[in-house]
Amino acid sequence: MHNAAFDELGIDCIYVPFRVLSDDLEDAVEGLRSVGVLGFNVTVPHKTRIVRQLERLDGLAKRIGAVNTVLNRKGSLVGYNTDAIGALQTLKENHITTGDCSFTILGAGGAARAIVFALPKTSPKITILNRTPTKAESLRRDVKRKLGMEIEAGRLTKRTLSRILPSTDVLVNATTVGMKDDSQTFPIDKADLRRTLTVFDIVYRHSETELLRKARLSGCKTISGIEMLLHQGAAAFEIWTERKAPLKVMRSALLRAGVRST
Ligand code: ATR
Repeated sequence: MHNAAFDELGIDCIYVPFRVLSDDLEDAVEGLRSVGVLGFNVTVPHKTRIVRQLERLDGLAKRIGAVNTVLNRKGSLVGYNTDAIGALQTLKENHITTGDCSFTILGAGGAARAIVFALPKTSPKITILNRTPTKAESLRRDVKRKLGMEIEAGRLTKRTLSRILPSTDVLVNATTVGMKDDSQTFPIDKADLRRTLTVFDIVYRHSETELLRKARLSGCKTISGIEMLLHQGAAAFEIWTERKAPLKVMRSALLRAGVRST
């Protein structure tokens, strides 16, 4: 999607992927700095560890404690978190007023963290449910300490979902469930997927994960992770180039490439 955007705007840049092992992260970042790249993205599992190699962090990235986009300003590396921006933009484009909606977020890893920190303080209720409840609790404490915001945390089970979903407007899957195995999903009772619920799955490998399929068949509004992938990319593009990202071109490049194969 980035190369399509560079082509569209006639910008002489190229976006290339590199596989970097954990032990090589420092050298890889120093290499990128010294060859003078304009910027780069960082993904799992480096989003937190890279922070110590950067000169500056944008405010949101600092609160989240994780970076997915780096801008190289004449050798000085600045870190941003466009996952959070991408999630918010995706919700906005789907006419979800985040400040008025109750959210239930599944997961307590990096992606869940970015979304929780991006939501406005006015959201009436935010609940984090995670397979490992101690991680959800630790995210809850961090949100309270850094934002002074009260959220709920608990274990992800069929029972907790049945208890929480009736008062939820937007259910977000921010776990890796459905990423590798198409049929993998959560133990959700069909009755809990009421028509007024919006289900947003950030997994982008397939345009429709099993969770989204179940939700769609139950009449819920569904939002695919491909939208968040697009919007985090568009935000990164704008940070690097200071040009408006050509969303239409980027979206069709993503769909053409078939994110399924990544
Ligand atoms: P990311 O940065 O993409 O969020 P991560 O930090 O590895 O990746 O987090 C993965 C999330 O998916 C975690 O919340 C994890 O739950 P645990 O904290 O219990 O490990 C969740 N997850 C992964 N596999 C899962 C599964 N089979 N069922 C439920 N949750 C799962």
